[in-house]
Amino acid sequence: MADTPSYGFETLAVHAGAAPDPVTGSRATPIHQTTAFVFDDVDHAASLFNLQVFGNIYTRLTNPTVAVLEQRLAGLEGGRGAVAAASGHSAQMMAFHVLMEAGDHFIAAKQLYGGSLTQFGQSFKKFGWDATTVDATNVQNFRDAMRPNTKAIFIENLANPGGVVVDVEAVAAVAHEAGVPLIVDNTLATPFLARPFEWGADIVVHSLTKFLGGHGNSLGGMVVESGKFDWAQNDKYPSLTEPNASYHGLKFYETFGDMAYSVAIRAQSLRDLGPALSPMNAFLILTGIETLPLRMERHCDNALKVAEFLEAHPKVDWVSYAGLKSSRFYDLGKKYLPRGAGAVFTFGVKGGFESGVTIVENVELISHLANIGDTRSLIIHPASTTHRQLGEAELIAAGAGPDVVRLSVGIETVDDIIRDLDQALSRV
Ligand SMILES: Cc1ncc(COP(=O)(O)O)c(C=O)c1O
Repeated sequence: MADTPSYGFETLAVHAGAAPDPVTGSRATPIHQTTAFVFDDVDHAASLFNLQVFGNIYTRLTNPTVAVLEQRLAGLEGGRGAVAAASGHSAQMMAFHVLMEAGDHFIAAKQLYGGSLTQFGQSFKKFGWDATTVDATNVQNFRDAMRPNTKAIFIENLANPGGVVVDVEAVAAVAHEAGVPLIVDNTLATPFLARPFEWGADIVVHSLTKFLGGHGNSLGGMVVESGKFDWAQNDKYPSLTEPNASYHGLKFYETFGDMAYSVAIRAQSLRDLGPALSPMNAFLILTGIETLPLRMERHCDNALKVAEFLEAHPKVDWVSYAGLKSSRFYDLGKKYLPRGAGAVFTFGVKGGFESGVTIVENVELISHLANIGDTRSLIIHPASTTHRQLGEAELIAAGAGPDVVRLSVGIETVDDIIRDLDQALSRV
C-alpha cells in the first residue's frame, strides 16, 4: 500500500503501510511488543549493522508495528520517508540533529507552541544550537534573520494556539534562496487539512499525540522528508554528505539519495539519542489515523460553529480563528487549509484574568487540561496555567494575555459544546 499514491486520502488513512500479517492472517496490524529480532546468521547480522540491507535489529532503531505507522505518515504527507519518535518534541530534536553542528543557527517562527519555543531557547542552546525567532506573518523577517551558519527554517503552518496561518510557499522560497530546508510542524492541521510538501516544505514534523492519534491516549512524534532537497548543493550538511566514521566511512546522501535524511535520522539520531516510539503507542495511533478524515471534518465543522457563537457573545471581546471571515488569516486559510481551519483557537473574554479562571472552572462537558486534539473538547486559560510564571507584558507577547482562553473543539454534538460554554460564560 505504501507505493500506491493513486489511492485517495481516506483509503491511505486506513491502509497505507499495512497488509494482512503473512504468518497469521491478522488483519489489524499486530503489536510487535519485542525489543530485539533474531538474525538469520552472522552475515545477515553484519549486513544489517552495515546498512547494506534494511531489516530489524532492535526496537530503538526499527520495529514492524512502528514501520507501518511511518509508512502511513509518509503516504499521507506525500513524503519519501519517515521516522517515528516517542513524542512530538523528540521528533523535533531529531529533525534538527542531522542538520546541525554545535555553533550552528536556525530561524523559527515566534508563533509556535510555547513548549517548542522553550525547547529551542533553552535545551537546544545547551547543544550549541542557536535559534532566532521572528514574526512569521512578515516573510521578509526570515530573509533578514538569515546568517552564513543558518541550517534551517522552522514554522508551524497553522500555529498553536492563535489561529495564525503562515504563507508556507513564500517562506519555502526564502529557505531555498539560502540553500536551507524548510521544516513545517503540521500538527494542528494534519495532512488531511494541509499538505506542506505541495507548497515547497522539505521536512514535516508532527506531534502524533494530537489529532493524528486523536483520542488523547498516547504520545508520539514523526519526522517526514519530501525527498526533494539537494543536500549536496552546499557544504552545510556534513552528517549527510561527509563520510560517517560509525558506518565505515559511508556517505548517507551518496548512498541513500532521496531517503538519505530519514535513513540518517534513524541510523544516527534514533540510534544515539534514543527516543523510539513504543509499538503499543504506534498501534493506538495507527488505529486513530484510520478515522482521521471523518474526525477532522467534524472537528472543523464544530470549531467554526463554536467560533461563530463566541464571536457573537456579548461577554467575548475577540475570537482568533482562521475560519472566521473576520480573521486576518482567512484568505491564507482558504489557500492552505481549504477543508477547514482546524479546531484549536483562542478567544478573549471580557474582564481579563478573573473571567478566564471563571470559565475554565465552570465548564462541565469540556475538560480543563493541557492538551489539544482529542475527540473530547478541551479548554485552558494559559495565564493561570501553562504561562503562569510570566509577567503581564510577557504574557501578551506570548499571545497568552490575561483574557486569553484556548479551546480545542472536540467531535461531540456541537449544541452541547455551545451550551456548556454559554453557561460558563453566564457566570462571568
Ligand atoms: C504544535 C505542537 N507541536 C509540538 C508539540 C509537542 O508534542 P508532544 O507533546 O507530543 O511532545 C505540541 C504539543 O502540544 C504542539 O502543540
